[in-house]
Amino acid sequence: MAKTIRLSKMVNPHFYPLWRTDKPYIVAKGGRGSFKSSVISLKLVTMVKRWTQLNKKVNVVCILANKSDLHDTVYSQVIWALDVLDLADEYTYFKSPLRITHKLTGSTFYFYGADNPHKLKSNKVDNIIAVWFEEVANMKGVDVFDQSIPSFIRQKPPFVGQVKVFFSYNPPRNPFEWINEWVGKCKQDSNYFVDTSTYLDDELGFTTDQQLALIERYKQNDYDYYRWLYLGEVIGMGNNVYNMELFHPLKKLPSDDYITDVFYSVDTGHEVSATTCGAYGVTKRGDVILLDTYYYSPQGKTHKKPPSVLSKDLKHFIDKVTDWVGKRPTNMTIDSAEGALDNQFYNDFGIHWHKVAKLKKVDMIDRVQDLLAQGRFYYLERPENEIFLAEHRKYQWDDKTLQSDDPKVIKEDDHTCDMLQYFVRDNERFLGLKW
Ligand SMILES: Nc1ncnc2c1ncn2[C@@H]1O[C@H](COP(=O)(O)OP(=O)(O)O)[C@@H](O)[C@H]1O
Ligand SMILES: [Mg+2]
Repeated sequence: MAKTIRLSKMVNPHFYPLWRTDKPYIVAKGGRGSFKSSVISLKLVTMVKRWTQLNKKVNVVCILANKSDLHDTVYSQVIWALDVLDLADEYTYFKSPLRITHKLTGSTFYFYGADNPHKLKSNKVDNIIAVWFEEVANMKGVDVFDQSIPSFIRQKPPFVGQVKVFFSYNPPRNPFEWINEWVGKCKQDSNYFVDTSTYLDDELGFTTDQQLALIERYKQNDYDYYRWLYLGEVIGMGNNVYNMELFHPLKKLPSDDYITDVFYSVDTGHEVSATTCGAYGVTKRGDVILLDTYYYSPQGKTHKKPPSVLSKDLKHFIDKVTDWVGKRPTNMTIDSAEGALDNQFYNDFGIHWHKVAKLKKVDMIDRVQDLLAQGRFYYLERPENEIFLAEHRKYQWDDKTLQSDDPKVIKEDDHTCDMLQYFVRDNERFLGLKW
Protein backbone atom coordinates (compact mmCIF):
# COMPACT_ATOMS: atom_id res chain seq x y z
CA MET A 1 0.00 0.00 0.00
CA ALA A 2 1.36 3.41 -0.91
CA LYS A 3 2.37 5.58 2.02
CA THR A 4 0.72 8.95 2.30
CA ILE A 5 3.38 11.59 1.97
CA ARG A 6 2.63 14.71 3.92
CA LEU A 7 5.21 17.44 3.50
CA SER A 8 3.78 19.29 6.47
CA LYS A 9 5.01 16.39 8.60
CA MET A 10 8.54 16.67 7.19
CA VAL A 11 9.21 20.35 6.80
CA ASN A 12 9.21 22.63 9.81
CA PRO A 13 6.89 25.65 9.44
CA HIS A 14 9.91 27.94 9.74
CA PHE A 15 10.89 26.88 6.22
CA TYR A 16 7.52 27.44 4.52
CA PRO A 17 8.50 30.91 3.20
CA LEU A 18 11.78 29.51 1.88
CA TRP A 19 9.91 26.60 0.29
CA ARG A 20 7.40 28.84 -1.42
CA THR A 21 9.43 31.89 -2.42
CA ASP A 22 9.47 32.69 -6.11
CA LYS A 23 12.86 34.37 -5.85
CA PRO A 24 15.51 32.56 -7.87
CA TYR A 25 18.34 32.72 -5.30
CA ILE A 26 17.75 31.16 -1.92
CA VAL A 27 20.22 31.33 0.94
CA ALA A 28 19.73 29.09 3.98
CA LYS A 29 22.19 29.93 6.70
CA GLY A 30 22.08 29.02 10.35
CA GLY A 31 23.30 26.92 13.21
CA ARG A 32 24.19 23.27 13.15
CA GLY A 33 21.26 20.87 12.94
CA SER A 34 18.67 23.43 11.90
CA PHE A 35 17.47 21.25 8.97
CA LYS A 36 18.90 23.39 6.17
CA SER A 37 20.31 20.47 4.24
CA SER A 38 17.28 18.28 4.85
CA VAL A 39 14.82 20.92 3.69
CA ILE A 40 16.77 21.82 0.57
CA SER A 41 17.14 18.17 -0.41
CA LEU A 42 13.40 17.60 0.08
CA LYS A 43 12.67 20.70 -1.98
CA LEU A 44 14.92 19.58 -4.84
CA VAL A 45 13.41 16.12 -4.92
CA THR A 46 9.89 17.59 -4.86
CA MET A 47 10.76 19.91 -7.74
CA VAL A 48 12.09 17.04 -9.83
CA LYS A 49 9.09 14.87 -8.97
CA ARG A 50 6.74 17.47 -10.38
CA TRP A 51 8.41 17.21 -13.80
CA THR A 52 9.02 13.47 -13.87
CA GLN A 53 5.30 12.98 -13.26
CA LEU A 54 4.75 14.95 -16.45
CA ASN A 55 7.30 12.72 -18.12
CA LYS A 56 9.83 15.53 -18.54
CA LYS A 57 13.56 15.21 -18.16
CA VAL A 58 15.05 17.73 -15.76
CA ASN A 59 18.42 17.92 -14.03
CA VAL A 60 19.78 19.21 -10.75
CA VAL A 61 23.38 20.05 -9.90
CA CYS A 62 24.69 19.73 -6.33
CA ILE A 63 28.03 21.31 -5.48
CA LEU A 64 30.30 20.97 -2.49
CA ALA A 65 33.71 22.56 -1.80
CA ASN A 66 35.52 19.27 -1.61
CA LYS A 67 34.87 16.63 -4.23
CA SER A 68 35.94 13.77 -1.95
CA ASP A 69 33.20 14.56 0.58
CA LEU A 70 30.37 14.47 -1.99
CA HIS A 71 29.35 10.90 -1.35
CA ASP A 72 28.88 11.23 2.40
CA THR A 73 27.15 14.60 2.24
CA VAL A 74 25.01 15.86 -0.64
CA TYR A 75 24.76 12.52 -2.45
CA SER A 76 23.58 10.75 0.73
CA GLN A 77 21.35 13.69 1.56
CA VAL A 78 19.51 13.41 -1.78
CA ILE A 79 19.11 9.65 -1.28
CA TRP A 80 17.69 10.40 2.17
CA ALA A 81 15.15 12.79 0.66
CA LEU A 82 14.13 10.29 -2.04
CA ASP A 83 13.65 7.70 0.68
CA VAL A 84 11.55 9.96 2.85
CA LEU A 85 9.38 10.89 -0.12
CA ASP A 86 9.05 7.23 -1.04
CA LEU A 87 10.64 7.70 -4.45
CA ALA A 88 13.86 5.74 -3.96
CA ASP A 89 12.75 2.85 -6.21
CA GLU A 90 12.20 5.15 -9.16
CA TYR A 91 15.92 5.99 -9.32
CA THR A 92 19.22 4.33 -10.16
CA TYR A 93 22.31 5.20 -8.15
CA PHE A 94 25.74 5.53 -9.72
CA LYS A 95 29.05 5.83 -7.92
CA SER A 96 31.52 6.88 -10.58
CA PRO A 97 30.88 9.57 -11.49
CA LEU A 98 28.35 10.15 -8.72
CA ARG A 99 24.84 10.64 -10.02
CA ILE A 100 21.26 9.61 -9.32
CA THR A 101 19.04 9.05 -12.31
CA HIS A 102 15.27 8.71 -12.66
CA LYS A 103 14.66 5.44 -14.48
CA LEU A 104 11.75 6.52 -16.66
CA THR A 105 12.72 10.06 -17.68
CA GLY A 106 16.49 10.10 -17.27
CA SER A 107 16.22 13.11 -14.98
CA THR A 108 19.47 13.26 -13.04
CA PHE A 109 21.06 14.70 -9.91
CA TYR A 110 24.71 15.53 -10.65
CA PHE A 111 27.34 16.04 -7.94
CA TYR A 112 30.42 18.20 -8.40
CA GLY A 113 33.27 19.53 -6.30
CA ALA A 114 33.93 23.26 -6.39
CA ASP A 115 37.69 22.80 -6.08
CA ASN A 116 38.00 24.06 -9.62
CA PRO A 117 35.43 26.73 -10.63
CA HIS A 118 36.59 26.67 -14.24
CA LYS A 119 35.84 22.99 -14.49
CA LEU A 120 32.40 23.59 -13.01
CA LYS A 121 31.69 26.03 -15.79
CA SER A 122 32.54 23.53 -18.48
CA ASN A 123 30.26 20.77 -17.17
CA LYS A 124 27.71 20.29 -19.91
CA VAL A 125 24.39 19.57 -18.23
CA ASP A 126 21.22 20.75 -19.93
CA ASN A 127 17.65 21.12 -18.67
CA ILE A 128 18.83 22.38 -15.29
CA ILE A 129 16.00 23.36 -12.96
CA ALA A 130 18.03 23.81 -9.78
CA VAL A 131 21.55 24.16 -8.44
CA TRP A 132 22.54 23.60 -4.81
CA PHE A 133 25.75 24.98 -3.35
CA GLU A 134 26.06 23.11 -0.03
CA GLU A 135 28.39 24.18 2.82
CA VAL A 136 29.43 27.26 0.89
CA ALA A 137 31.46 28.67 3.80
CA ASN A 138 34.07 26.07 2.87
CA MET A 139 34.36 27.31 -0.70
CA LYS A 140 37.22 29.53 -1.75
CA GLY A 141 35.26 32.65 -2.51
CA VAL A 142 32.53 34.30 -4.50
CA ASP A 143 34.48 33.40 -7.61
CA VAL A 144 32.95 29.92 -7.47
CA PHE A 145 29.49 31.44 -7.99
CA ASP A 146 30.56 34.03 -10.55
CA GLN A 147 32.32 31.41 -12.63
CA SER A 148 29.57 28.83 -12.63
CA ILE A 149 26.11 30.32 -12.10
CA PRO A 150 25.87 32.13 -15.48
CA SER A 151 26.45 28.90 -17.38
CA PHE A 152 24.10 26.88 -15.17
CA ILE A 153 21.20 29.28 -15.61
CA ARG A 154 21.74 29.32 -19.36
CA GLN A 155 20.89 25.61 -19.39
CA LYS A 156 17.30 26.13 -18.25
CA PRO A 157 14.67 24.04 -20.02
CA PRO A 158 12.04 26.14 -21.86
CA PHE A 159 9.18 24.87 -19.67
CA VAL A 160 10.45 26.38 -16.39
CA GLY A 161 10.44 30.08 -15.60
CA GLN A 162 13.79 30.15 -13.79
CA VAL A 163 16.61 28.04 -12.45
CA LYS A 164 16.53 27.98 -8.65
CA VAL A 165 19.88 28.39 -6.96
CA PHE A 166 20.17 27.28 -3.33
CA PHE A 167 23.03 28.11 -0.96
CA SER A 168 23.42 26.60 2.49
CA TYR A 169 26.02 27.02 5.21
CA ASN A 170 26.83 27.60 8.86
CA PRO A 171 28.34 31.10 9.17
CA PRO A 172 32.01 31.26 10.21
CA ARG A 173 32.62 33.24 13.40
CA ASN A 174 34.88 35.74 11.68
CA PRO A 175 32.87 38.69 10.26
CA PHE A 176 35.58 39.24 7.65
CA GLU A 177 35.20 35.85 6.05
CA TRP A 178 34.03 36.36 2.44
CA ILE A 179 30.78 34.48 2.95
CA ASN A 180 29.70 36.75 5.81
CA GLU A 181 30.37 39.79 3.64
CA TRP A 182 28.66 38.16 0.66
CA VAL A 183 25.43 37.46 2.53
CA GLY A 184 25.28 41.12 3.57
CA LYS A 185 25.00 41.99 -0.12
CA CYS A 186 22.47 39.24 -0.78
CA LYS A 187 20.17 40.75 1.82
CA GLN A 188 20.11 43.99 -0.20
CA ASP A 189 19.36 42.19 -3.44
CA SER A 190 15.69 41.61 -4.24
CA ASN A 191 16.52 38.45 -6.19
CA TYR A 192 17.72 36.76 -3.03
CA PHE A 193 15.70 35.12 -0.29
CA VAL A 194 17.87 34.87 2.84
CA ASP A 195 16.78 32.65 5.70
CA THR A 196 18.39 32.10 9.10
CA SER A 197 17.42 29.03 11.06
CA THR A 198 18.45 27.28 14.25
CA TYR A 199 17.65 24.01 15.97
CA LEU A 200 15.13 25.99 18.03
CA ASP A 201 12.94 26.22 14.91
CA ASP A 202 12.30 22.49 15.11
CA GLU A 203 8.60 22.55 15.92
CA LEU A 204 8.13 19.03 14.63
CA GLY A 205 10.57 17.67 17.21
CA PHE A 206 13.02 15.77 14.98
CA THR A 207 15.99 16.73 17.14
CA THR A 208 16.69 13.80 19.43
CA ASP A 209 17.17 14.00 23.20
CA GLN A 210 20.79 12.99 22.73
CA GLN A 211 21.39 15.88 20.31
CA LEU A 212 19.65 18.28 22.70
CA ALA A 213 21.83 17.07 25.58
CA LEU A 214 24.98 17.71 23.56
CA ILE A 215 23.76 21.18 22.60
CA GLU A 216 23.01 21.89 26.25
CA ARG A 217 26.54 20.87 27.11
CA TYR A 218 28.03 23.46 24.76
CA LYS A 219 25.59 26.05 26.03
CA GLN A 220 26.56 25.50 29.67
CA ASN A 221 30.30 25.37 29.07
CA ASP A 222 30.92 28.03 26.47
CA TYR A 223 27.98 30.24 25.68
CA ASP A 224 29.74 32.12 22.87
CA TYR A 225 30.73 28.93 21.15
CA TYR A 226 27.14 27.73 21.46
CA ARG A 227 25.89 30.99 19.95
CA TRP A 228 28.19 30.47 17.04
CA LEU A 229 27.76 26.73 16.47
CA TYR A 230 24.06 26.32 17.19
CA LEU A 231 22.55 29.78 16.83
CA GLY A 232 24.64 30.54 13.72
CA GLU A 233 25.77 33.93 15.03
CA VAL A 234 28.90 35.64 13.76
CA ILE A 235 30.48 36.14 17.16
CA GLY A 236 33.87 37.47 16.06
CA MET A 237 37.29 36.18 16.97
CA GLY A 238 38.04 37.91 20.30
CA ASN A 239 41.65 38.74 21.15
CA ASN A 240 42.50 35.74 23.26
CA VAL A 241 42.36 32.57 21.28
CA TYR A 242 41.12 30.48 24.21
CA ASN A 243 38.84 30.96 27.17
CA MET A 244 41.09 29.70 29.96
CA GLU A 245 38.18 28.79 32.16
CA LEU A 246 37.65 25.84 29.86
CA PHE A 247 40.99 24.29 30.91
CA HIS A 248 39.95 22.44 34.04
CA PRO A 249 42.56 21.59 36.68
CA LEU A 250 42.74 18.14 38.26
CA LYS A 251 44.68 17.37 41.42
CA LYS A 252 44.86 13.70 40.49
CA LEU A 253 43.39 11.26 38.01
CA PRO A 254 39.64 10.86 38.47
CA SER A 255 38.43 7.94 40.55
CA ASP A 256 35.05 7.63 38.80
CA ASP A 257 36.46 7.41 35.26
CA TYR A 258 39.51 5.73 33.72
CA ILE A 259 41.95 6.28 30.90
CA THR A 260 41.40 4.06 27.89
CA ASP A 261 43.98 5.57 25.52
CA VAL A 262 47.11 7.68 25.72
CA PHE A 263 48.18 9.98 22.89
CA TYR A 264 51.36 11.95 22.28
CA SER A 265 51.99 14.95 20.09
CA VAL A 266 55.14 16.86 19.40
CA ASP A 267 56.07 20.29 18.13
CA THR A 268 59.73 20.46 17.29
CA GLY A 269 62.34 23.16 17.06
CA HIS A 270 66.08 23.02 16.66
CA GLU A 271 67.86 26.38 16.62
CA VAL A 272 65.68 28.70 18.71
CA SER A 273 62.23 27.12 18.97
CA ALA A 274 61.42 24.74 21.75
CA THR A 275 60.62 21.07 21.35
CA THR A 276 57.60 20.02 23.33
CA CYS A 277 55.64 16.83 23.72
CA GLY A 278 52.27 16.42 25.38
CA ALA A 279 50.92 13.19 26.84
CA TYR A 280 47.13 13.10 26.73
CA GLY A 281 44.87 10.55 28.35
CA VAL A 282 41.40 10.03 26.93
CA THR A 283 38.91 8.61 29.39
CA LYS A 284 36.01 6.23 29.04
CA ARG A 285 33.64 9.19 29.28
CA GLY A 286 35.50 10.93 26.45
CA ASP A 287 37.29 13.56 28.49
CA VAL A 288 40.83 14.55 27.62
CA ILE A 289 43.46 14.96 30.34
CA LEU A 290 46.85 16.52 29.77
CA LEU A 291 48.95 14.11 31.82
CA ASP A 292 52.45 15.45 31.39
CA THR A 293 54.46 17.85 29.26
CA TYR A 294 57.99 17.55 27.96
CA TYR A 295 59.55 20.92 27.13
CA TYR A 296 63.05 21.77 25.99
CA SER A 297 64.06 25.23 24.84
CA PRO A 298 67.41 25.66 23.10
CA GLN A 299 67.17 29.43 23.50
CA GLY A 300 70.31 30.95 25.01
CA LYS A 301 72.04 27.59 25.25
CA THR A 302 75.51 27.37 23.76
CA HIS A 303 75.37 23.61 23.44
CA LYS A 304 71.94 22.80 21.96
CA LYS A 305 70.51 19.32 22.07
CA PRO A 306 70.78 17.61 18.66
CA PRO A 307 67.99 15.33 17.31
CA SER A 308 69.83 12.28 18.65
CA VAL A 309 69.44 13.54 22.20
CA LEU A 310 65.88 14.87 21.73
CA SER A 311 64.89 11.47 20.37
CA LYS A 312 66.08 9.75 23.56
CA ASP A 313 64.43 12.41 25.72
CA LEU A 314 61.10 11.77 24.02
CA LYS A 315 61.41 8.02 24.34
CA HIS A 316 62.20 8.39 28.01
CA PHE A 317 59.18 10.70 28.44
CA ILE A 318 56.86 8.25 26.69
CA ASP A 319 58.20 5.25 28.64
CA LYS A 320 57.71 7.10 31.91
CA VAL A 321 54.06 7.89 31.13
CA THR A 322 53.46 4.37 29.79
CA ASP A 323 54.72 2.80 33.01
CA TRP A 324 52.68 5.16 35.12
CA VAL A 325 49.35 4.90 33.28
CA GLY A 326 49.79 1.36 32.05
CA LYS A 327 48.67 2.08 28.46
CA ARG A 328 50.80 1.95 25.36
CA PRO A 329 50.54 4.93 22.96
CA THR A 330 47.45 4.82 20.73
CA ASN A 331 48.86 7.45 18.36
CA MET A 332 51.96 9.65 18.27
CA THR A 333 51.68 12.81 16.20
CA ILE A 334 54.36 15.10 14.87
CA ASP A 335 54.49 18.34 12.87
CA SER A 336 54.23 17.42 9.19
CA ALA A 337 57.19 19.68 8.40
CA GLU A 338 59.51 17.74 10.72
CA GLY A 339 61.78 15.14 9.16
CA ALA A 340 65.00 14.98 11.16
CA LEU A 341 63.59 14.03 14.53
CA ASP A 342 61.21 11.44 13.13
CA ASN A 343 64.05 9.80 11.19
CA GLN A 344 66.22 9.83 14.28
CA PHE A 345 63.45 8.31 16.40
CA TYR A 346 62.83 5.61 13.81
CA ASN A 347 66.53 4.89 13.65
CA ASP A 348 66.77 4.63 17.44
CA PHE A 349 63.54 2.84 18.27
CA GLY A 350 61.96 1.55 15.06
CA ILE A 351 58.84 3.68 15.54
CA HIS A 352 57.54 6.35 13.20
CA TRP A 353 55.54 9.33 14.36
CA HIS A 354 52.35 10.15 12.45
CA LYS A 355 52.55 13.38 10.49
CA VAL A 356 49.59 15.66 11.09
CA ALA A 357 47.66 16.95 8.07
CA LYS A 358 47.66 20.65 8.88
CA LEU A 359 44.89 23.07 7.98
CA LYS A 360 44.52 26.83 8.05
CA LYS A 361 45.29 28.13 11.55
CA VAL A 362 41.66 29.10 12.28
CA ASP A 363 40.55 25.59 11.43
CA MET A 364 43.23 23.95 13.57
CA ILE A 365 42.21 26.17 16.46
CA ASP A 366 38.52 25.62 15.91
CA ARG A 367 38.89 21.92 16.59
CA VAL A 368 40.51 22.66 19.93
CA GLN A 369 37.82 25.21 20.74
CA ASP A 370 35.17 22.63 19.95
CA LEU A 371 36.70 20.15 22.41
CA LEU A 372 37.02 22.88 25.06
CA ALA A 373 33.48 24.13 24.51
CA GLN A 374 32.15 20.69 25.34
CA GLY A 375 33.81 20.94 28.76
CA ARG A 376 35.99 17.94 28.04
CA PHE A 377 39.49 19.29 28.64
CA TYR A 378 41.47 18.77 31.88
CA TYR A 379 45.08 19.00 32.96
CA LEU A 380 46.88 17.50 35.90
CA GLU A 381 48.22 20.17 38.21
CA ARG A 382 51.92 19.50 38.24
CA PRO A 383 54.96 21.68 37.54
CA GLU A 384 55.63 20.07 34.15
CA ASN A 385 52.26 21.24 32.83
CA GLU A 386 52.66 24.86 33.90
CA ILE A 387 54.39 25.90 30.68
CA PHE A 388 51.41 24.51 28.74
CA LEU A 389 49.02 26.73 30.65
CA ALA A 390 51.27 29.79 30.54
CA GLU A 391 51.56 29.56 26.76
CA HIS A 392 47.85 29.00 26.24
CA ARG A 393 47.02 31.93 28.50
CA LYS A 394 49.25 34.20 26.40
CA TYR A 395 48.05 32.86 23.06
CA GLN A 396 46.59 35.77 21.08
CA TRP A 397 45.33 36.60 17.64
CA ASP A 398 47.51 39.12 15.86
CA ASP A 399 45.56 42.40 15.88
CA LYS A 400 46.88 43.36 12.47
CA THR A 401 45.36 40.28 10.89
CA LEU A 402 42.05 40.19 12.72
CA GLN A 403 40.24 42.26 10.14
CA SER A 404 40.98 39.77 7.41
CA ASP A 405 39.64 36.46 6.26
CA ASP A 406 42.80 34.66 7.40
CA PRO A 407 43.65 35.78 10.95
CA LYS A 408 47.04 34.76 12.29
CA VAL A 409 48.17 34.11 15.83
CA ILE A 410 51.17 35.81 17.40
CA LYS A 411 53.86 33.23 16.90
CA GLU A 412 55.71 33.61 20.17
CA ASP A 413 55.88 31.00 22.89
CA ASP A 414 53.18 29.04 21.13
CA HIS A 415 54.87 25.63 20.97
CA THR A 416 52.56 23.84 23.37
CA CYS A 417 49.63 25.51 21.56
CA ASP A 418 50.75 24.00 18.26
CA MET A 419 51.37 20.69 19.98
CA LEU A 420 47.81 20.58 21.36
CA GLN A 421 46.38 21.46 17.94
CA TYR A 422 48.32 18.62 16.31
CA PHE A 423 46.96 16.14 18.84
CA VAL A 424 43.36 17.26 18.38
CA ARG A 425 43.53 17.50 14.60
CA ASP A 426 45.24 14.14 14.16
CA ASN A 427 42.70 12.36 16.40
CA GLU A 428 39.55 14.31 15.61
CA ARG A 429 37.57 11.23 14.69
CA PHE A 430 38.64 9.38 17.81
CA LEU A 431 37.66 12.42 19.83
CA GLY A 432 34.27 12.54 18.11
CA LEU A 433 34.66 16.12 16.93
CA LYS A 434 32.36 17.35 14.23
CA TRP A 435 34.66 16.74 11.28
N1 LIG B 1 11.81 15.02 8.18
C1 LIG B 1 12.73 14.50 9.00
N2 LIG B 1 12.49 13.41 9.71
C2 LIG B 1 13.42 12.88 10.51
N3 LIG B 1 14.64 13.39 10.67
C3 LIG B 1 14.97 14.47 9.99
C4 LIG B 1 14.04 15.10 9.13
N4 LIG B 1 14.64 16.19 8.58
C5 LIG B 1 15.89 16.22 9.08
N5 LIG B 1 16.10 15.20 9.91
C6 LIG B 1 17.38 14.94 10.61
O1 LIG B 1 17.79 16.10 11.32
C7 LIG B 1 19.22 16.21 11.36
C8 LIG B 1 19.73 17.62 11.12
O2 LIG B 1 19.32 18.14 9.90
P1 LIG B 1 20.28 18.82 8.80
O3 LIG B 1 19.43 19.10 7.63
O4 LIG B 1 21.49 18.00 8.55
O5 LIG B 1 20.72 20.18 9.51
P2 LIG B 1 21.70 21.35 8.98
O6 LIG B 1 21.96 21.13 7.54
O7 LIG B 1 20.94 22.61 9.26
O8 LIG B 1 22.92 21.24 9.86
C9 LIG B 1 19.74 15.20 10.36
O9 LIG B 1 20.34 14.17 11.11
C10 LIG B 1 18.50 14.68 9.62
O10 LIG B 1 18.62 13.31 9.31
MG1 LIG C 1 23.79 20.80 6.68
